[in-house]
Amino acid sequence: MHREYAALEGKILGKRARVGVVGLGYVGLPLVKLFLSKGFAVTGFDIDPKKVSLLNRGKSYIRHITTGELRRFLTDKLFRATADFSKLRTVDVVIICVPTPLDSHKNPDLSYVLGTTSVIARYLKPGQLVVLESTTYPGTTEEEMLPILEAGGLKGGKDFFLAFSPEREDPGNRHYSTATIPKVIGGLTPACRRLASLLYGQIVVKTILVSSPRAAEAVKLLENIFRSVNIALVNEMKIILERLGIDVWEVIEAAATKPFGFMPFYPGPGYGGHCIPVDPFYLTWKAKEVDYQTKFIELAGEINTHMPYYVVGKTIAALNGMGKSIRGARILVLGIAYKKDIDDQRESPALKIISVLKAQGAKVEYNDPYVPRSAGHREYPGLDLRSVPLTARRLKSSDAVIIATDHSSYDYDGIVRQAPLVVDTRNAIRRKRRNVIKA
Ligand SMILES: NC(=O)c1ccc[n+]([C@@H]2O[C@H](COP(=O)([O-])OP(=O)(O)OC[C@H]3O[C@@H](n4cnc5c(N)ncnc54)[C@H](O)[C@@H]3O)[C@@H](O)[C@H]2O)c1
Repeated sequence: MHREYAALEGKILGKRARVGVVGLGYVGLPLVKLFLSKGFAVTGFDIDPKKVSLLNRGKSYIRHITTGELRRFLTDKLFRATADFSKLRTVDVVIICVPTPLDSHKNPDLSYVLGTTSVIARYLKPGQLVVLESTTYPGTTEEEMLPILEAGGLKGGKDFFLAFSPEREDPGNRHYSTATIPKVIGGLTPACRRLASLLYGQIVVKTILVSSPRAAEAVKLLENIFRSVNIALVNEMKIILERLGIDVWEVIEAAATKPFGFMPFYPGPGYGGHCIPVDPFYLTWKAKEVDYQTKFIELAGEINTHMPYYVVGKTIAALNGMGKSIRGARILVLGIAYKKDIDDQRESPALKIISVLKAQGAKVEYNDPYVPRSAGHREYPGLDLRSVPLTARRLKSSDAVIIATDHSSYDYDGIVRQAPLVVDTRNAIRRKRRNVIKA
C-alpha cells in the first residue's frame, strides 16, 4: 500500500495525475474545466456519444463553459472526451458524476452509479483513486460500490483508494463556483481520505474532512433537506399570510434583517432542479432500513409539490374575476427553467403548471431565453413546446402571463404595461399594480 500511496501522492502534488471524470453533465463538466484550468490532464467519459463528439469538436453544451476555453484545452492536448471506457486504464483518478434520480415509486435509482462502478471495476488497476460525487444515501460508497470494486481481487484502502465527496454546485450563482466552495471528503481509510484531500486541495479553496464516506454522504443530504424544508416553510407561510392579507415578501425581507438565527428562504411556484425535489427521498428510503419513517421530508415534499397547483388555482380565480374561463384561455408562461438565469428545466415547477393548465383546456405557450425547446420529459411525455418570442402583441393578446421564473433579462415594466393579467410567483414586480397578483 505504501508504494501505491506514495506514487499517487507524488503525481497529485506534481499535477501529473491523470484525472478521469465519468458523467459530463452539469456537475462533471465544470469539474473537468476546473482540473484543466489548474494544469491537470483530464479524460472525460460519457455514454452519450453526442456529448463526447461535441466536446471533442470544442463545443460546450453548458453555458458557463465557453467554446474558446474548450478549444484551448483540446489544442494543448490536456483534454479528451471519450465513450471508450477501456481508457479508464490510462487515468490515475476516477471521479464519478453520473445521475442519481428516483424511480417511478420515488425510490433511489442507483443503476447509473452501480453500472459505472462495474465498468470501473473491469479496468481498475492498483494505485487508482475512485471518488463518487453523485448525491446518494449514506452507505452507498462502502456498502454498494466497494464490493463491486473489490470483486476482481484488489483491496480498497490497500491496492486502490476510495472516497466520497459531494458536489455542491449551485448553477447560476455568481458569488460561488466549484473552485470557491469548500469540498467535504470522507475516505474509506485515512489514506483514501488524505489522497482525495490532496487532490481536491489542488483545485478548491478548502477541503473539509469527515470521518467516513457515510458521513460525507449524509452531509450532502442534510444540506438539501434543509433547503427543501425551509422552502416548504415559506411556501406555507405564503398561503397563510395571503389569506390574512399580509405580503409574505415584505415579512421575509424584514425578518432577514435579524443578524442571527434567521436565514431567508423565498417562496415560489414549487421547487425544481435535479437535487432538492429528489435527494431528500434517498434518506427516506434508507431510513426505512433502520425502522424510521421520515416526516419532515415527506411534509416538505407535499407542500412544495402542491405549489404549482396553488399557482394554477390563483390564475383561474383571477381569470374568473375578469369574467373569463380557463378553458380556451391564452396563457403565456415566462421562464421554464427551474430558477433564474440558468438553462436547466429538470423537475421545473413551470412544467407542472403548464401541464395542469393544458389539462384544464387552456392554450399555453412559454417564453424562456435560456430554453428554446421543452420536450422529452419523463414525467410529461406529451409536452413538446418551443419558446415563443416575447412580443408586445403576444403579451396584449394573452389572457394571463405567469411569471414562473424571474430571469434578469425580462423587462418587467413592459410586461405589466402590456399584459391584461400578470401572475407573479417570484415577487419580480415589487410595486403594487392593478393587473398583477402574487401567487
Ligand atoms: N446539477 C446540480 O446542480 C447538482 C448539484 C449537486 C449535486 N448534483 C448531483 O450530481 C450528480 C450528477 O448530476 P448532474 O446534474 O451533473 O447530471 P447530468 O444529467 O447533467 O449529467 C450526468 C451525465 O452522466 C452521463 N451518464 C449517465 N450514465 C452514465 C454512465 N453509466 N457512464 C458515464 N456517463 C453517464 C449522462 O450522459 C450525463 O452527461 C447527481 O447525483 C446529482 O444529484 C447535481
